[in-house]
Formats: sequence, structure tokens, C-alpha cells
Amino acid sequence: NDLPDDLFEAIAELKRELNAVILAHYYQDPDIQDIADYIGDSLGLSRQAANTEAEVIVFAGVHFMAETAKILNPNKLVLLPDLDAGCSLADSCPPDAFAQFKAAHPDHLVVSYINCSAAIKAMSDIICTSSNAVKIIEQLPPDRPIIFAPDRNLGRYVMERTGRDLLLWEGSCIVHETFSEKKIVQLQIEHPDAEIIAHPECETPVLRHANYIGSTTALLQYAKESPASAFIVATEPGIIHQMEKEAKDKQFIPAPSTSNCACNECPHMRLNTLEKLYLCMKNRTPDINLPEDIREAAWQPIARMLEMS
Ligand code: 13P
Ligand code: SF4
Repeated sequence: NDLPDDLFEAIAELKRELNAVILAHYYQDPDIQDIADYIGDSLGLSRQAANTEAEVIVFAGVHFMAETAKILNPNKLVLLPDLDAGCSLADSCPPDAFAQFKAAHPDHLVVSYINCSAAIKAMSDIICTSSNAVKIIEQLPPDRPIIFAPDRNLGRYVMERTGRDLLLWEGSCIVHETFSEKKIVQLQIEHPDAEIIAHPECETPVLRHANYIGSTTALLQYAKESPASAFIVATEPGIIHQMEKEAKDKQFIPAPSTSNCACNECPHMRLNTLEKLYLCMKNRTPDINLPEDIREAAWQPIARMLEMS
């Protein structure tokens, strides 16, 4: 596969040719963010996917995100630059084990975080994202027990914010569990003016130190509006690209991990590259396909989320 000299121009041309829209998550490589038509958190991306008039959706994110776009747009071509771009959190909830868990608690409503496979969505009553989880749980009947899957950290955070007891599936994100509480505290001693901002997929000991907790979009918004001049950012550092663009005079410091590796970068998100983005558009593959029964069953809980948020 020969690559053109100017990938940006070649991608722009393919976009016109295909009548495509490029949707990107904040954890993507900065080059991909710069060429995207829309960059957002999982809720924003789902809304864009639900409302786009483009014929082709190029999803620069991970598999469950592109799958959600396909569930909402069964007749459109949904391309994912690298089909192996999965998610540890989605993988931590295998459908067979979850079906047994659900069957053991038949009176429970099932609320699933969007970071799960279509098969899990199909077994859920309502989907949520990190930006609407609290709002959605608050709208559910107070006397109804609730299963919350698959992220135990987001689940614990929602329990604390809503005062509701949730039956948690014990899944987690490998990226957000790498942050070191001790190193974050040490870093704040070195930067006493810095605020700590964190994603709710982080563990409770890290969240305890946060001045603000929110989805990626909410963290970006907070960083722009806060009077603080520096921030320690406890989420995947791809978001720092937008923070630096939108709050040029402020300093953004990636939160340190327990080991000295660059493991706070999501290995799944980072499988997508500008080259693969170009190639998937040129070759119209890899694309997302789903069995129709799963797609139909997964659509309802996503539609409910969009109505309730
Ligand atoms: P949001 O962008 O919705 O906050 O989700 C973060 C994440 O981990 C996506 O995989
Ligand atoms: Fe999944 Fe975590 Fe990567 Fe998000 S950051 S895609 S939750 S592994």
C-alpha cells in the first residue's frame, strides 16, 4: 500500500469522495484529532453518530464506539482504522458470564456504561456514559435495585454522588487504574497552584484528591473555565492536546502512573494512526458489522440514554 505524501490532503479528498464524517475521541493521536470533523466524549460522539447526514462514518476511537455508531446507523458504512482497537473495560465483561450474573438478579434494572460490547448492551435496560451516569441513575425508580456494569470505579463514584446502592460488575480500565495516588500527591506538592482533574474511571484513592471529576469533555470545559493556571490531568493524556489548544496560557501535567512506563496512554486507542485512517477510507474496510438481533436489542437502551440525557 503506497501512502501519499500529504496524508491530510488525501484524507480530506477521500472524505469528499465518500461523503464521510470523521468522528474522533480525545484519546486519539493529536494528528487524528486535528483532521477530525468532531472530537468529543462518548456521549458527544454518540449524539454526532445519531444525527449525522454523512453516508460513511469513520470512527477514530475504539471498537465499542464504532459499534455504537453502527447500532444507530445500520445502513451506513462505519469504518474503524484498526479493528483490534478494543477496550480492557469492555473485555472485562464477557457476555456469557454477564448473562449468568443478570439471571441471578432478575429483579434488577441493568444500567451499562457505554464501554461494553454490543452483546452486553443488548442485555441492558439503559446505557450511560461518564457524563450522564449520575443523571440517569437519579431518574430511575428509587425502589428498583440496579446492576451497574462494567466499570466498578465509575459505579462507586455514582453510588457516592447519588447515595444509591448499585450492584457492581467488577470491571475496570487498565489506563485509569495505573495512576499513582502517592505520585500525584507528590506532584501537587511541587505544583501547589495546580488543580487535580480526574476521570471517574480512576480508583477512589485518586478521585479523593481531585478538585474536579468528569468525562473528558467536562474536564476540558472545566480546565478552560477554572481560574487555576495549572492542572494535573488524571486521564489518558490525549486530551491534553485539546486542553493546550483551547487554554493556551495554562499548564497541563499528565498524572503519573505507578510504574515509569508511558502506560497512561491507552494502548487500544493508540492503535489507530493517520496512515490507518487513510487506508480504511481508501479501502472502505475494516468496517463494523453486527448480527441484526443483537443490533436491534442494543439499540433500545442506547435510544433510552439519548432521551434521558
Ligand atoms: P469519556 O470520553 O466519555 O469520558 O470516556 C472516556 C473513556 O475512557 C473512553 O474510553
Ligand atoms: Fe477502554 Fe480505558 Fe482505553 Fe477508554 S482508556 S478505551 S476505557 S481501555
